[in-house]
Amino acid sequence: MPRPPLRSSCQTVARLLVVAAAVIAPMRGAAQAVTAAPLPAPLTQAIDAAIAATLPRVVAWRRDIHAHPELSWQEARTAALVAEHLRTLGLEVRAGVAGTHGVVGILKGARPGPVVALRADMDALPVVEQTGLPFASTVRATYNDNAVGVMHACGHDTHVAILMGVASVLRGMQAQLPGTVVFVFQPAEEGGANAGGGAVKMIEGGALSSPKVDAIYGLHSWPGPVGTVALRAGALMASTDNFRVVVRGRQTHGAQPWGGIDPIVTGAAIVTELQSIVSRRVDLTTGPAVVTTGIFNGGVRENIIPDSAVLRGTIRTFARETRQRVFEEVRRLATNVAEAHGATAEVTITEGYPVTVNDPRWFPRPLAVLQRALGDDKVLESRLSMPAEDFSFYMERVPGAFFFLGGTPVGTDPMTIAPNHSPFYDVDEGALPVGMKALAHLAVDALVNGVPPTVRAAR
Ligand code: NI
Repeated sequence: MPRPPLRSSCQTVARLLVVAAAVIAPMRGAAQAVTAAPLPAPLTQAIDAAIAATLPRVVAWRRDIHAHPELSWQEARTAALVAEHLRTLGLEVRAGVAGTHGVVGILKGARPGPVVALRADMDALPVVEQTGLPFASTVRATYNDNAVGVMHACGHDTHVAILMGVASVLRGMQAQLPGTVVFVFQPAEEGGANAGGGAVKMIEGGALSSPKVDAIYGLHSWPGPVGTVALRAGALMASTDNFRVVVRGRQTHGAQPWGGIDPIVTGAAIVTELQSIVSRRVDLTTGPAVVTTGIFNGGVRENIIPDSAVLRGTIRTFARETRQRVFEEVRRLATNVAEAHGATAEVTITEGYPVTVNDPRWFPRPLAVLQRALGDDKVLESRLSMPAEDFSFYMERVPGAFFFLGGTPVGTDPMTIAPNHSPFYDVDEGALPVGMKALAHLAVDALVNGVPPTVRAAR
């Protein structure tokens, strides 16, 4: 297993999704706040019939994409498959969005109306697959100069197949729909905090502005019971940011430390002091926070105190003010601890993905839609999730909702299955029609019932 230098979206902390899977109290009560009417029966029946008819192809796409995973920014084959399908459906298709492998498909309904976007992420991870599935990946690639396996270990294969299927479903209902659906297939959700995520590129390429999107929805597979989705109002997933501290001392003989300035001891003190940020300096009523130093490099030989050492780590928070506070504290502590040791510290903070927030003002609508579509007992309240998502960039600009799609087989404890990013991660295909139904209902609701200008203007 290589050592990826990027701490991307859900890397390294995917196990928390398993913990979150235990929080599966059905959500009740919020539906009263919703003003939109249920979808007319002919529309819901048309969705059900189209999902049933499309499902075999969705399963086939999922397996094909799973067998041919592509790393972030390299999703050429997947994008070509998507673009060809959307063109076959007769949609307006933009490929190569913002110089990436992003694909946008635009479906115009029979009448004017709102614009709703649905998003899937297409990239895979540098993981050697060990699921034993008949369509398991055998793909190998080079990642950060390491020979790696490539695997859809985060379930993005299912996201792509589901959204391709939803495009078929809604294309079949085109004559009954007002407004426009924008299908956003983005690269590089796992692009990471240092490289930026694909969502930013898609936004730069006009995914939200041409045409102007009124609402956006997205999902992520997770270890929850098949048939369920899970979400929460307000903050859902953490922000993710990286820090890098270069500690500079003065090289000397390891047997004569007084002859130099030791960046290793200084760095160790910084690592320890950074832990006081969350416990002493952050207002934890704004939500949890994490500061993790994941890399500590310095020295080449036991008896040489080196000139410098490098620390790198990740910062997770759930509130803008907390995020900024942690940035300031990392800079202040590292700089001053270094000075106390006679060394210097150069701190670089690279902002990654912001907090993924389901706007509480809009949340009752998607919640009610999902409850009607899937059943009250199938819509669960998620805990806060420490992994991050670049879907957050879309929801900073337009109202929307992001939810988890349960992929754990019936009769299996989600707590015991392999989490996202594991070489054993798998999504039960029973989740595919559930994801299709959820996205189709959310899209049709936004088209038919509209998005209030007050919600749209709130950004
Ligand atoms: Ni993911």
